[in-house]
Amino acid sequence: MKLILRRGDVGSTLVPRPMTTETSWTPSTWRARPAAQQPDWPDDGALDDVLKRLGTRPPLVFAGEVRQLTSTLAEVAAGRAFVLQAGDCAESFEAFTADAIRDKLKVILQMAVVLTYGAGVPVVKMGRIAGQFAKPRSSATEVVEGVVLPAYRGDMVNDISADPAARVADPGRLQRAYDQSAATMNLLRAFTKGGFADLNQVHTWNQEFVASSAEGQRYERIAAGIERALRFMAACGIDLAQEASLHQVDFWTSHEALILGYEEALTRQDSLTGGWYDCSAHFVWIGDRTRQRDGAHLEFFRGINNPIGVKLGPSVSPDEAAALCEHLNPRRVPGRLTLITRLGASRIEELLPPLIRAVRDAGHPVVWVCDPMHGNTFVSAGGRKTRHLDHVLAEIGSFFRVHRAEGTWPGGVHVELTGDDVTECLGGAEEVLDSQLDLRYLTACDPRLNGRQSLDLAYRVAELLRGS
Ligand code: PEP
Ligand code: CO
Repeated sequence: MKLILRRGDVGSTLVPRPMTTETSWTPSTWRARPAAQQPDWPDDGALDDVLKRLGTRPPLVFAGEVRQLTSTLAEVAAGRAFVLQAGDCAESFEAFTADAIRDKLKVILQMAVVLTYGAGVPVVKMGRIAGQFAKPRSSATEVVEGVVLPAYRGDMVNDISADPAARVADPGRLQRAYDQSAATMNLLRAFTKGGFADLNQVHTWNQEFVASSAEGQRYERIAAGIERALRFMAACGIDLAQEASLHQVDFWTSHEALILGYEEALTRQDSLTGGWYDCSAHFVWIGDRTRQRDGAHLEFFRGINNPIGVKLGPSVSPDEAAALCEHLNPRRVPGRLTLITRLGASRIEELLPPLIRAVRDAGHPVVWVCDPMHGNTFVSAGGRKTRHLDHVLAEIGSFFRVHRAEGTWPGGVHVELTGDDVTECLGGAEEVLDSQLDLRYLTACDPRLNGRQSLDLAYRVAELLRGS
């Protein structure tokens, strides 16, 4: 056993702590473990060059912000706030415009307004954005128009075109993903702190294609109510200009931290506390395909101080769930760990209760979030990968019912959506039909809710939060 100096829990004083080999961690200790879902990079030299360069680039987020998010999520763990985590399945280099970022933000702000106004619960707003570029795949190859190709693994790794050369993993894409994340982050900071997210703008977030629908008109009525409330408070003599929370929002970034070399390069030691932070995003999660007990992802995640998530699909056992918590949050810090269940509408009522009991009985203060998308994907009659809003809402309904029965807090929802008027998921008040899927099916990976369907979902969640 060797003794190393490490900053401990007592303020910022250096305290000696015994460290066994088993517990010592650095941003690269994951390299000694089997890492699932990593690309087959053709040229190690080129990869190393990119990673070295990324290691010198500025962080995208700061440790202080990340700690603030952990405290905010601790409020969720305690049942006093609700998480809305939403965005693309996969961001793309192609669809990278200010308008696309703005429109996605608009939908998320609208949904947050519906939830806060409709349920009176503070909403933690988190995007699958500014880094969501890597995809785990069920198979290493896929067949496109009769041709077998290496699987598309996200724009951070290879190109989606149906061409074998385009599918070769290219480390230059890691740099491009970082650059796009930085520019996206910059715009998000400007939008959320510079006036666009001001509650006085609540009407302007309603996009035209949404405003004309029943969902959009319902939103208009909420927006009018908020405006009336603001006018009322001003008339009472309350100085609203001084209330920062009316004019700015905290918007957090998140993604699946899949490509560990990239995440390692952006992991930095905080000069204030000595702790390590993955500065590629405020919140990062482990996917359902990379949560192996002795795998590289768990090793990497246990050492970073960000708030983290783990996706739990139908194959996870209650014991495994409790073991994951023990491994990733042994000190049981509230807000540190979010469990994102994606069990499917037909199985959640059977599978979720034992998971909740195992985690609760082991004393873990987790945030429970429902991903109602990934357990409800199917192939439409026309051959499109899709999801039906009814199944999505059914899984969320069961999520609330089960948590209420177990006495735990249904802490949030995690959804794939876009601000664009796409036809990728079926259903909704303004129904998308099977025959319409081909009209605007634009996703680079999984099917996303469009703006109207996203609002439908927010109304339903607000009702569930109110307990009706
Ligand atoms: C995803 O969130 O896009 C994803 C791949 O999810 P999961 O790991 O739950 O399958
Ligand atoms: Co997805």
